[in-house]
Amino acid sequence: MCIDSIRVQLASSPRKWVVTGVAGFIGSALLEELLRLGQTVVGLDNFATGHSRNLEDVRKLAGDEAWQRFTFMEGDIRSLDDCRRACEGADYVLHQAALGSVPRSINDPITTNQANIDGFLNMLVAARDANVKRFVYAGSSSTYGDHPALPKMEDTIGRPLSPYAVTKYVNELYADVFYRTYGMGCIGLRYFNVFGRRQDPNGAYAAVIPRWVGEMLDGKSPVINGDGETSRDFCYIDNTVQANILAAVADNPQAANQVYNVAFGGRTTLNELFRVIRDGLSQYSPEVASIEPGYGDFRAGDVRHSQADISKAQRLLGYRPRYDVYNGMTECIGWYAKHIRTWGGQGG
Ligand SMILES: NC(=O)c1ccc[n+]([C@@H]2O[C@H](COP(=O)([O-])OP(=O)(O)OC[C@H]3O[C@@H](n4cnc5c(N)ncnc54)[C@H](O)[C@@H]3O)[C@@H](O)[C@H]2O)c1
Repeated sequence: MCIDSIRVQLASSPRKWVVTGVAGFIGSALLEELLRLGQTVVGLDNFATGHSRNLEDVRKLAGDEAWQRFTFMEGDIRSLDDCRRACEGADYVLHQAALGSVPRSINDPITTNQANIDGFLNMLVAARDANVKRFVYAGSSSTYGDHPALPKMEDTIGRPLSPYAVTKYVNELYADVFYRTYGMGCIGLRYFNVFGRRQDPNGAYAAVIPRWVGEMLDGKSPVINGDGETSRDFCYIDNTVQANILAAVADNPQAANQVYNVAFGGRTTLNELFRVIRDGLSQYSPEVASIEPGYGDFRAGDVRHSQADISKAQRLLGYRPRYDVYNGMTECIGWYAKHIRTWGGQGG
């Protein structure tokens, strides 16, 4: 079924959803869409990297009536009790809470492991015991590790290149075992470089797009790691939201207990990405047009090229990404230009 008919169906028969990591970039986008579709949502977050300003932004966009359907639980997925409380009576779980970032995991593998593996297992157990209809979780393209094949197909992975990649791969192993041992319907979504509104521009582990936007608006030259010919499959947030909803409600038996690439299916070098951002931003801040990038060392744990084959998600989930990197950037660059300087401050 296509996403538009699923949206209509959901709007006429609301369900209860759990979104972990709801104060983060992707979690808050899921919340925004679910509230727009008339759903009831319980959100769990400990503000490790998420922010109350993201929730406040969704509240303004969704309106007070829709906000009544949202319950926020400040809590930690490392606590099984918190996970159980969040999952009570839920139909679907969209598990996004984790510590992202390859460099963070290299600097502090234990903390990443605790959130991404212990926390994941707690959520699996809580969702299993609450008999949820579907457990959808955020996987990662980092699971492809050092395998050189392009485009990436779900069944062909290499060795992980970072502790973060290990945790995301272990999530897949656990989800598969929970299916075979307890018959629990899980779907993993391997996200490829997601970008869009509310992505955090601050901190040592900020993602490349909001970080570069912030630097360019400050008149600084972003530093590209390596020669700039490293490439990624940048995926606009609306595509990611679509994939989550499709995965949650998919009733095709072949679709369950699978992992899927979630991307656009294109490949953009960092040099090209720089130009796309600069061209977009210079419509709002003309002085940006003259900025040139600097170049630094390649970064440990980074793969050289990444591009998804999205045919499995197209075939089994009906996934149809509507935004490539160009029109995705057009959608959000105005938001970045307006908000990024004020979208700062820890815990705000
Ligand atoms: N953004 C991307 O490009 C990308 C790519 C691949 C995978 N992912 C995965 O998608 C998910 C969401 O990422 P994001 O980009 O929105 O990151 P984010 O940091 O904005 O969101 C993660 C959220 O999880 C919360 N969280 C972390 N540890 C927690 C804990 N122990 N208990 C409760 N909440 C906790 C954080 O406070 C934050 O709100 C993560 O699982 C991440 O690994 C993201």
